[in-house]
Amino acid sequence: MNQHKVTVLHGPNLNLLGVRQPDVYGYETLDNINTSLHETALMVGLDISCFQSNHEGELIEAIHAARLDGSFAIIINPAAYTHTSVAILDALNAFEGKVIEVHISNVYKREGFRHHSYVSLRADGIIAGFGTQGYQIALNAVINAGAYE
Ligand code: DQA
Repeated sequence: MNQHKVTVLHGPNLNLLGVRQPDVYGYETLDNINTSLHETALMVGLDISCFQSNHEGELIEAIHAARLDGSFAIIINPAAYTHTSVAILDALNAFEGKVIEVHISNVYKREGFRHHSYVSLRADGIIAGFGTQGYQIALNAVINAGAYE
């Protein structure tokens, strides 16, 4: 396990943060979120990599890469794949580090189909409904769980 490596994965449509349904997802862009995460990581000497894809297979390959580089944790917002993807669940099950599932919105306050998450079957912790600051909450949790330089 590479204690100082953390992988952050963003699923489909999250590249549109800031302009996509701002009433639900707010005005912060994905670039801003990733920059803030990098700043926090730098302060504690963590090596963080952030990746967004609209393609299920690319997210799965990124999970495999996190497995191979021995990432201490994956912070993942699988977006709509949360509710559909057994393949992402299977990839996360093959990963040995911590898994934190993040949702910007409170999915339990929304449509019924968002109430089920395949990823939650693997997640060590779930953060939902805190807006984009959920990613920082997740990173703090990972740091407190023992990620260090
Ligand atoms: C989301 C919630 C999902 O239901 C939705 O499909 C998303 C974003 C969130 O961050 O609140 O794309 O994961």
